[in-house]
Amino acid sequence: MTSGGMTSEVPTRKLADGNEIPLLGFGVWQVPDGTECAAAVRAALEAGYRHIDTAQAYGNEESVGRALRESGIAREQIFVTTKFYPGKKDPVAEIEASLRRLGIDYVDLYIIHWPQGGPTWAWPGMERARELEHARSIGVSNFSLSELEQTLAVSTSTPPVINQVQFSPFEFRQGLLEGCERLGVSLESYSSLGTGRHLDDPTVETIAKASGRTPAQVLLRWCAQREIPVLPKSTHKERIIENSALFDFALSDSDMAKLDDLDTTGRTSAAREGKWWS
Ligand SMILES: NC(=O)c1ccc[n+]([C@@H]2O[C@H](COP(=O)([O-])OP(=O)(O)OC[C@H]3O[C@@H](n4cnc5c(N)ncnc54)[C@H](OP(=O)(O)O)[C@@H]3O)[C@@H](O)[C@H]2O)c1
Repeated sequence: MTSGGMTSEVPTRKLADGNEIPLLGFGVWQVPDGTECAAAVRAALEAGYRHIDTAQAYGNEESVGRALRESGIAREQIFVTTKFYPGKKDPVAEIEASLRRLGIDYVDLYIIHWPQGGPTWAWPGMERARELEHARSIGVSNFSLSELEQTLAVSTSTPPVINQVQFSPFEFRQGLLEGCERLGVSLESYSSLGTGRHLDDPTVETIAKASGRTPAQVLLRWCAQREIPVLPKSTHKERIIENSALFDFALSDSDMAKLDDLDTTGRTSAAREGKWWS
C-alpha cells in the first residue's frame, strides 16, 4: 500500500471564469472549531494541500484562518472556499463576516451551500460579492441540473462556475456531470469517500490491493482522473498524507468501468436524493 507524501505538484483545473482550482482540497466539515481544526488544516498545508474547503455552517472559519496564518504560506498560494449559509438573507453581508473570521481579504470561491428557498434568489447577491472582490469565483452546491439552469438564466454578470455535489463511484451522477460540462460549470466532488462509508467496499478494496494503493486513494483518484476536484476530510495526519498521493498513479479503463458500475443513483442529473432544509 502506498501512503507516502505527494510526489508532484497538485494539478489544477481551469474554471470558466479563467481562474484555476487545485484538484486536491482539504474538507473541514464536522471538524470541531479550535485546536483540532487548526491542527488538521496545518497538517494538510504541511502535506502540500493548497486548497481548503470550509463553510459558514461549519462554524470553523476562525480556526481555518488561524491555520492559514500560522502556516506562513503566502495567501495567493492557497485556494480558499467558503459557502453562503442560505438560512441567511444577504450573501454580501455574510461573506464580509466570513472574511473577518478567516482574517483574509478575499476568498477564491464562494458558493451557495444548498438551494434553500429556491435556486435563484441569492444569485444577485453572489454576483455582487464578486464585483466587490470579496470572492474571485462564485458558484453553487447541491444544485441539480434544472436548478443550475434556472440560476444561469437569472445571472446578469457572472454565471456559476462550480457545482459542488456528493459524487463518488456510488453516487456517479453522470447526468449531472454531463449537464454541468455542457453548461461550462465544473463539478466538484464532496464526500468522495462517502464520509468514510465507501472505504470497505469489496470492489474498491480489490482494486486497491491490485494497484498497490489504498481504498481512499482509489476513490479519490476515480474523481481526479476525470479532472473533478476532491476535498477529502481527515483529522489524522497519516490519512491526510495518504489522501494527497493521487497524482503519481492512474486507474486502468477497466478499473474505472468497474467503479462506475457501483453507482446507486441511476446516473442521475439530480444533486441529492432529498432535502435537509425546510
Ligand atoms: N457542500 C456540501 O453540502 C458538503 C457536504 C458534505 C461535505 N462537503 C465537503 O466535502 C468534504 C469531504 O466530505 P466528508 O466530510 O463527507 O467526508 P469524506 O472525505 O468523504 O470522508 C471522511 C471520513 O473518512 C475518514 N477517512 C478519511 N481519509 C481516510 C483514509 N485515508 N482512511 C480511512 N478513513 C479515512 C475520516 O475519518 P477521520 O477524520 O477520523 O480520519 C472521515 O470519517 C467535507 O469536509 C466538506 O468540506 C460539502
